[in-house]
Amino acid sequence: MTHYFLTGASAGIGAALAKRLCENGDRVSAVARRNDRLATMATKLSGFWSAGCDVTMANQLAESVAAAENAQGSVDIAILNAGIYQPQDGSAIDPAIYANHMDVNYMGVVNALAAIVPRMIARGGGHIVIISSVAGWRGLPKSAAYGPTKAALISLAESLHFDLQPKGVRLQVICPGFVESEATAVNDFEMPGLMTADAAAQAIIDAMAKNDFLVHFPKSFTRSMAWLRFLPDKWFFRIVGRRTGYV
Ligand SMILES: NC(=O)c1ccc[n+]([C@@H]2O[C@H](COP(=O)([O-])OP(=O)(O)OC[C@H]3O[C@@H](n4cnc5c(N)ncnc54)[C@H](OP(=O)(O)O)[C@@H]3O)[C@@H](O)[C@H]2O)c1
Repeated sequence: MTHYFLTGASAGIGAALAKRLCENGDRVSAVARRNDRLATMATKLSGFWSAGCDVTMANQLAESVAAAENAQGSVDIAILNAGIYQPQDGSAIDPAIYANHMDVNYMGVVNALAAIVPRMIARGGGHIVIISSVAGWRGLPKSAAYGPTKAALISLAESLHFDLQPKGVRLQVICPGFVESEATAVNDFEMPGLMTADAAAQAIIDAMAKNDFLVHFPKSFTRSMAWLRFLPDKWFFRIVGRRTGYV
C-alpha cells in the first residue's frame, strides 16, 4: 500500500487522482484550501486523510506533511498538483495576478519540497511528481501569467534532479494537455485533445509507473506541442498564431 501526499485534491485532476488511488487500495493524504470538500471525500474513500492547507504558506505545508505522516506513515510518493490558471490578455498586465500564479503554482511546489525532501533524504529515498503543463514548453496565447510558472517548474525539477537523484529521491514532471476542470471551464477557445479529469488521473498513475523523467499526454495533442518546442521562432509564431486566430 503506497502512501501518497497530494496537493490540490479538492477538485479536478487532484480529486480524480485521490479517488482512483484510494480505490486501488492505496493511502492518500490530501490537502487543499476547501477542507469541506475534502471532508466529504473522506466519507466516501478508504485510506483517505485530509487537511486544509494553503500551499503558498510554507508553515501550513510543513504542518500538513508532519500530520499526514503521523496519521498514515511515511510518504512514499508526493504529487504536487495544486495550481491556478487565469487566462490573460497581455496588453493589460496586472502584476498581482502574475504574482499570485507564481505564489501558488511555483512557490506552492517549492514549499512542499521544503517540507518533504528532507524527510525522504533521511529515509534514503522517495518519489516526487510535479504537475507542470505543455503550456510550460513555449509561450502560448492567454498564458502569460500561467505558462511561466509551469516552465519554471520544469527547470526547477531538472536542477534539483542533480542533487536529489544521488540521494535516492526521484523527481518526475508530468505535462498534461487540456483537461476538463474548473480551471479550463473559463476557456472560450477550442481545446484540442481535451480529456476528462478521470482519464488524466489514470494517465498520471501510468506515468508514475514508468522511469521517464518527463511524461506528457494525451499524445494525440502533446506530440505536436513537443514538435513546436524545436521550431525556429519565426515558424512557431506563425503556426500558433494561425491555429489560435491571432494572424
Ligand atoms: N486542466 C488542465 O487542462 C491542465 C493542464 C495542464 C496542467 N494542469 C495542472 O494540473 C493541476 C490541477 O489542475 P486542475 O485542472 O485539476 O485545476 P482545478 O480543478 O482548478 O483544481 C485545482 C486544485 O488546486 C487547489 N489549489 C489552488 N490554489 C491552492 C492553494 N493556494 N493552496 C492549496 N491548494 C490550492 C484547488 O483547491 P482549493 O481551491 O480547495 O484550495 C484544487 O484542488 C494544476 O497544477 C494545473 O496547472 C491542468
